[in-house]
Amino acid sequence: MSRPSLPLVLDRVGKRFDAVAVLADLSLTVEPGEVLALLGPSGSGKTTLLRLIAGFESPDTGSLSLGDERIDRLPAERRGFGMVFQHYALFPHLTVAGNVAFGLEGRRLPRGEVDRRVASALARVELTGLGSRRVSEISGGQQQRVALARALAPEPRLLLLDEPLSNLDPSLRERTRRDLARFLAELGITTVLVTHEQEEAFELGRRVALLHGGRLVQVGTPEQLYGAPADRFVAGFVGRASFVPARVDADGTAIAGDALPGGTLRLAAPAPAGSRGEAMLRPEELALAAPGSAGAVPGVVVTTRFGGALSWVVVRTPGGIELEVQVAGERPAAGTPTGVVRAAGAPPPRFFPVPG
Ligand SMILES: Nc1ncnc2c1ncn2[C@@H]1O[C@H](COP(=O)(O)OP(=O)(O)OP(=O)(O)O)[C@@H](O)[C@H]1O
Ligand SMILES: [Mg+2]
Repeated sequence: MSRPSLPLVLDRVGKRFDAVAVLADLSLTVEPGEVLALLGPSGSGKTTLLRLIAGFESPDTGSLSLGDERIDRLPAERRGFGMVFQHYALFPHLTVAGNVAFGLEGRRLPRGEVDRRVASALARVELTGLGSRRVSEISGGQQQRVALARALAPEPRLLLLDEPLSNLDPSLRERTRRDLARFLAELGITTVLVTHEQEEAFELGRRVALLHGGRLVQVGTPEQLYGAPADRFVAGFVGRASFVPARVDADGTAIAGDALPGGTLRLAAPAPAGSRGEAMLRPEELALAAPGSAGAVPGVVVTTRFGGALSWVVVRTPGGIELEVQVAGERPAAGTPTGVVRAAGAPPPRFFPVPG
């Protein structure tokens, strides 16, 4: 990249549609050259935020800047950003090269310069040699890369991707995701990528910003979101986990519950004495044991999911709580009575008090 990457700074951004707040008090810095994944459930405001950054919407409150430059009053075409739309928006009647060149339209570049930039963008996404093909004559994964090349051809200051893999079938999606992760790492352009899939966010984003109801609930590395979720929503949205009713002891240092494997468990951080809530248990923090063994919660296997070297077993306790357990090796059949204990070395559980 000839241009140095700049940080994108959002400061207390708010947006309403028809008096309904769709984004509220949103502050976020995307570091120079960073790939930030914007993750959240449907309707959480991801596309709205991306459109605000792109310049297709303007914020009601707050500001957006790229480096030292305020961008929120700048028209979209003057921001110099590249965007890959959810359905690519490629022109089927144009060739691959024609589509990429379209990204340069309005720049009044000499023909030779257009050709050079098209060739360079196609090379970056490994499509050299396919320039003269029609878009209808290439695969879905290749179309995805044409859309990326079109966004890259003008040498954008910022790259915006809205659900870039959502119209690929699952097997192609995984391969394309890997390619995209590599392209983005090599490009080094500040990038914001929208997805509603956690796996996609975790593979493509160096950091992940999680939106819920128009608010940013947590921004961090995948490890931070998985290991230290900011609240119960994040805990349930990121990764797999079982949530078990638990009560904090009189000291505020441990929790206990009928379906809590291991009996009374020490907490990593003190909680209000006597409060009730839920303990979060990741599948890898649990193990199967003989029913009746020390500290084991009894139950019956309800479903299993084979995953190669590892499998996942869901055990239902007599109280109707479901515990998902990661197992290495053979998995028990549904209907088998079993016990669930804490895996050796499992960290102290996270506890989320129930409000009220
Ligand atoms: N132009 C608009 N006018 C009114 N409401 C809108 C408009 N655009 C979006 N909304 C509303 O704003 C909220 C957030 O929409 P947005 O498209 O940003 O969500 P999203 O996180 O991208 O969801 P999805 O994952 O389904 O694409 C929704 O409740 C939506 O109905
Ligand atoms: Mg959307």
